[in-house]
Amino acid sequence: MINKKFYIENYGCQMNISDSEIVSSILNNKGFIKTENLKEANIILINTCSIRDKSDKKIILRIKFIIKKNNDILIGILGCMAYKFKNIKEKKLINLVVGPDSYREIPNLINNFFKKKGGYISTSFSKTETYADILPKREEKKITAFVTIMRGCDNMCTFCVVPFTRGREKSRDPYSIIKECKFLFKKGYKEIILLGQNVDSYLWYGGGLKKNFKRKEIINEEIINFSKLLELVAISVPLMRIRFCTSNPNDMSDHVLNVIKKYINICKHIHLPVQSGSNRILLLMNRKHKYEDYILLINKIKNIIPNCSISCDIITGFCNENSNDHNETLNLINYVKYNFSYMFLYSHRIGTYAYKKLIDNVSLSTKKRRLTEIINLQKTHSYYRNRKYIGSIQEILIEGISTKNINFFYGRNSVNDIVIFTKKNYKIGDFIKVKINNCTSATLAGDNYD
Ligand code: SAH
Ligand code: F3S
Repeated sequence: MINKKFYIENYGCQMNISDSEIVSSILNNKGFIKTENLKEANIILINTCSIRDKSDKKIILRIKFIIKKNNDILIGILGCMAYKFKNIKEKKLINLVVGPDSYREIPNLINNFFKKKGGYISTSFSKTETYADILPKREEKKITAFVTIMRGCDNMCTFCVVPFTRGREKSRDPYSIIKECKFLFKKGYKEIILLGQNVDSYLWYGGGLKKNFKRKEIINEEIINFSKLLELVAISVPLMRIRFCTSNPNDMSDHVLNVIKKYINICKHIHLPVQSGSNRILLLMNRKHKYEDYILLINKIKNIIPNCSISCDIITGFCNENSNDHNETLNLINYVKYNFSYMFLYSHRIGTYAYKKLIDNVSLSTKKRRLTEIINLQKTHSYYRNRKYIGSIQEILIEGISTKNINFFYGRNSVNDIVIFTKKNYKIGDFIKVKINNCTSATLAGDNYD
């Protein structure tokens, strides 16, 4: 008799959290039981991320640690790293490898493993799999829910493994998205984050919607793009906060900006990765935007949605990056004054164009020095932005108890800033008003404003 308790561990981005929820649901439906206790499980699934170098190494170390502590278990690798596990020296440690398009096969693969039938690698890509019909099994906290609207990416940035690990772009049926959002509202969730590697290129052709919606409820067209989807979601769950991630400067339309402006429940925050401020490097990266295009878009965002928070991803030390290129990145950061940024050291990823055709020729010490300069500059901007909030009153969704002091809650305002404030008689999930009286570059602090 197979003990059917599984434990699932997550690495990487929000997309992986969302995928683990889908996997949990698939396993649950087949009689497997999820446990939060590693020691209790005999099926341990690790949902991996391969986007940056550090993530790979961390995951291998973790697998070795788990194996040392537990006997008679199945260890499965899910997600991004699946595509390369066949070629990795640690592959003997692993019993199951499943790529992002094959999660429906997991229950069978697990059963086969325990029946010693073999055949437990499944990493093929599908052109259609979006798991639209699967209701993810989410954590109990019920504040924020991730809703995946598209999978994969067609952009082929030369540094990025995503097109190889997650396959081609596929948009999910909008009807299933809206149905899920309404369900989440009924369940008591307060906030939805629409997820995709490149949400702006969401595109759904035809069918299905008309028969499921009253005419006035939808935009009466067969083709649903991201601005229409965003609007449909905003209308369908007017009392929920809506966020989305990630935008691409190449695909973001004026329509999307106007929809963000129009609906009060859509948060005024855009995550808009730029990667570099140098046109030479952007070309080498096969980004489809130039410095000038990006600045135009930033100006447009600031015009249409004046208080919109803007954040980004930046890579430092990409192949052939010289000090001029680096200075152009600093100039761009200075121009935009991002609210916050995710800043990375470049590392070659196996299989990418850059790995095959370009030389990783910026020394580690130079990469680190440039990264420090970028981080320091960003910190001054984050601090400058946060200072502007002092004295203002912000509406905060309470997300949890502060890890540093149990007498404080933390939550976010609509533009995604983290705010710490005294607990009083509120509970997690409440929307409350907080008057900001202090800040660091990373957080705002305040008192309840009743
Ligand atoms: N569109 C995606 C981007 C995925 S990768 C999204 O939804 O976020 C996330 C970020 O990791 C990228 O924007 C990039 O800044 C960084 N990144 C990707 N590949 C990298 C590499 N080889 N080295 C360093 N950073 C990388
Ligand atoms: Fe990667 Fe570029 Fe797509 S960063 S996820 S290939 S937009």
